[in-house]
Amino acid sequence: MDAISEMPLLEVERLQVEFDTRAGIVHGLRGVDLSIRRGETLALVGESGSGKSVTAQAVMGLIDVPGRIAGGDIRWKGQSLLKGDGPRRAKDIRGKEVALIFQDPMTSLNPLITIGAQIGEVLQRHLGMTKAQARIRVLELLEAVGIPAPPRRAAQYPHELSGGMRQRVMIAMAIACEPQLLIADEPTTALDVTIQAQVLELIAGLQETLKLSVILITHDLGVVAGLCQRVAVMYAGRIVETGLADDLFERPSHPYTQGLIRSTPRLDDRLERLVSIEGAPPSLLAPPRGCAFEPRCPIAEARCGTEPPLAIVHAGASAACWKPSQPAWRDVPASAEPAPVS
Ligand SMILES: Nc1ncnc2c1ncn2[C@@H]1O[C@H](COP(=O)(O)OP(=O)(O)OP(=O)(O)O)[C@@H](O)[C@H]1O
Ligand SMILES: [Mg+2]
Repeated sequence: MDAISEMPLLEVERLQVEFDTRAGIVHGLRGVDLSIRRGETLALVGESGSGKSVTAQAVMGLIDVPGRIAGGDIRWKGQSLLKGDGPRRAKDIRGKEVALIFQDPMTSLNPLITIGAQIGEVLQRHLGMTKAQARIRVLELLEAVGIPAPPRRAAQYPHELSGGMRQRVMIAMAIACEPQLLIADEPTTALDVTIQAQVLELIAGLQETLKLSVILITHDLGVVAGLCQRVAVMYAGRIVETGLADDLFERPSHPYTQGLIRSTPRLDDRLERLVSIEGAPPSLLAPPRGCAFEPRCPIAEARCGTEPPLAIVHAGASAACWKPSQPAWRDVPASAEPAPVS
């Protein structure tokens, strides 16, 4: 924890993103609050459609028509990337100081260019290296991400590499410009379990050696434990709970987080002990006025028809719930811990 300075590197404040669709306006993000400090690893978790990727895309400036940022702010080292001359400054920051890796490397790698040339191009464009300098650095980067025989691999095309190796190439590209923040959006979902663990280990190792801040986006709580210091839980376009990882798994405050943990398999667990959260998230075309989890919540009451703010529940932990840490959780057997990282 010593390596973490107090100053947030990235702050997302009341961020709203909307998408114009035929069916109406999709309220993708409905006031997201998030911050990450230097050297910190934050997990962004939540069910499909909760807004994890849209949050990452907004930070990276990738929200495009039919989407738009409808409110709120994104600050990098205290300065807005959206207001004033922010958009101009953001161009230099994105891709260089903040890098993003996606779930599927095939969509972001050019199939017609060797991987060495693709990484080299990033170095030439962003860092002004000569071709010769870039060639040497490419080999170092491939080595750093655990790709064996770098000179041979550098001359290969993306399709000649396995999924795990391609993801390593994406990571090499992302760290090429020595970013301070790495956002990894479900970086291992497309990979098998063993390779998943290796890629996560690689990210954790790089985080340590490069003193990176990392936002790890996942819908799998099992990969979070042991890897991330802090967790932010998303539901229906908002952060509903945030806290230190160990603490949050030990005593989650929000009924949604409690349900999410209950439905996470432990490696040694039997499937029948899992309890999935009943129901489905609300439509973001017409999100409810009150707590978005209310229709699925086992402890909902009348006041939940009013939106609860994200408020401190105990030191280091906040939850958007009128009744945080209520008995619903205490009924859960001790087995409801997150799965260890394999
Ligand atoms: N281009 C788009 N047009 C319309 N709606 C969109 C668009 N992109 C995202 N959305 C909506 O925004 C919401 C948040 O989507 P997002 O992709 O961030 O979810 P997610 O948490 O990353 O889910 P997953 O775990 O499936 O990746 C969803 O309701 C989604 O349908
Ligand atoms: Mg996503």
